[in-house]
Amino acid sequence: MVPGGERLRLGILASHGGSNLQAIIDAVDAGAIDGVVALVISNNSSSGALQKARDSGVPALHISSATHPGAEEEALLSALEDHGVNLVLLAGYMKKLGPSILSHFGKRILNVHPALLPNYGGQGMYGSKVHEAIIEAKETVTGVTIHLADEDYDRGPIVAQIQVPVDPTDTPQSLAEKVLQHEHHLYVDTVRRISKGEIDLDSIGSG
Ligand code: GRF
Repeated sequence: MVPGGERLRLGILASHGGSNLQAIIDAVDAGAIDGVVALVISNNSSSGALQKARDSGVPALHISSATHPGAEEEALLSALEDHGVNLVLLAGYMKKLGPSILSHFGKRILNVHPALLPNYGGQGMYGSKVHEAIIEAKETVTGVTIHLADEDYDRGPIVAQIQVPVDPTDTPQSLAEKVLQHEHHLYVDTVRRISKGEIDLDSIGSG
């Protein structure tokens, strides 16, 4: 639960395939996460994420600069509020959040990044670009980071991390697939711990 003891009502934002979204939905359905997936939003009308939400009976909305020209952020915020969302999960969401969403939700927005931040993060470091850079640098260890989202990419305080070994035979593709499995595990475990009150988000990044 979140402070105040209310049950988690998750709002998940995703732009692509939605495998992290599916892992969260499955964990909620299995009772591992004490909460509900209240809403899924994608800026991509043909995303796998929207289809997965619909297949799972979760409210799913396409909100983008095309559907809401000049009012995308307001539409996002009102949809999240209308569905009583109290924890936002970014799961492969390629757009920055605006100031009104960030100030409304504060330390209730998480993001997953497929590397050990602060390394291999920031503008342009997403998807296969991350794994290509790690292979190029001949790193022997990579990993996954769950962090609080802020106005920039991949810069907010870290909530959880897990290391993933890089094998000499790894390609960017094989590494991406290996890391993605660990993303699912770490995101689900982190949200589960928040739902059980084992992680206090208000204490994260307070120095
Ligand atoms: C993941 O690699 C995640 O780390 C990155 O975007 C990808 C999302 O994958 N932010 P999926 O849409 O959850 O399958």
